[in-house]
Amino acid sequence: MLVDGFGRVHDYLRIGLTDRCNYQCLYCLPEPEFHQGCSSHSGDRMSAEEIVAIASQFVSLGVNKIRLTGGEPLIRKDAGDIMLALGRLPVKLTLTTNGSRIDHFIDIMHEAGVKSVNVSLDSLRKENFHRLTLRDDFEKVKSNIDLLIAQGFEVKVNMVVMNGYNDHEVVDFAKWSQTQPVHIRYIEFMPFPGNRWRPEKLISLQQILEMIEGDSGKLEKLDDGPHDTTRKYRIPGGKGTLAVISTMSAPFCDGCNRLRLTADGKMRNCLFSKTETDLLGPYRNGTDIVPLIRQCLQGKHRQLGGNSGPEWGLHETEEQRRTMMGIGG
Ligand code: 5AD
Repeated sequence: MLVDGFGRVHDYLRIGLTDRCNYQCLYCLPEPEFHQGCSSHSGDRMSAEEIVAIASQFVSLGVNKIRLTGGEPLIRKDAGDIMLALGRLPVKLTLTTNGSRIDHFIDIMHEAGVKSVNVSLDSLRKENFHRLTLRDDFEKVKSNIDLLIAQGFEVKVNMVVMNGYNDHEVVDFAKWSQTQPVHIRYIEFMPFPGNRWRPEKLISLQQILEMIEGDSGKLEKLDDGPHDTTRKYRIPGGKGTLAVISTMSAPFCDGCNRLRLTADGKMRNCLFSKTETDLLGPYRNGTDIVPLIRQCLQGKHRQLGGNSGPEWGLHETEEQRRTMMGIGG
């Protein structure tokens, strides 16, 4: 079992398959100097075999859920092979994708035993989608979401809410969950190197709930699981649900069970961690990585990677210089 210094059991691994993405979302892919989130040499990236071998070590230590992230995981040519191989491990396999390539992978996702998919979508309006991603792909992503629903996948839609960019669409997303079985997850805008985070761009849990309740009336509160990062709600009678990931206004670190592995094989014990542990180098040398995994976990801070204070996002330090794409959201 993987237990940190605060007694938290860690059984959930998020693996970044690549630090590249085919979209340029403005909250994520920021200033040019950050365009290469981590190493850009494919030799430094974990191969499919290495991902499976390293993931298997985590599974032998008690990990029972794996999420593939990125960058965009489905732009990796061998993403299908990786899904199929990880699907053979005793884990619940999921992925977070921008939705652009789901139609190419949907059969493999079924075959690999994927049941639930998180799709990042920050606007339901074509023009605003373009403004936020610099791609003209709204229809494609929307039809891929419809395809997932039609084929019986559980679909969670991640919307990063940013003041002045898409906050006027919060209610539209909520209404979508009334008529379709989609689970909307509003995410408070988080600071990462170079993403131009400002406190005034943040729309909080409270503000999001007020917007929705102002339009649709009182929401029904649903139960939250022990490791949920969200507070869940439903518009009474709705087919889907609503949730808010309140990292900034109300962090949920006490129930954290997450570990992260970047595309270049570095383990991070928190999304906001200031340090990381190389597993790929030692693995390639034939070193046992289990003690390294345990050591990395022991360094985990109680909250937000050891960051604190209301405006920590404004103060980037050298060690933190990895973008969301480099970490693997
Ligand atoms: N703040 C909040 N959420 C973010 N994501 C990416 N960057 C940020 C940010 N700065 C979201 C992505 C994806 C999820 C894993 O994290 O949209 O859906």
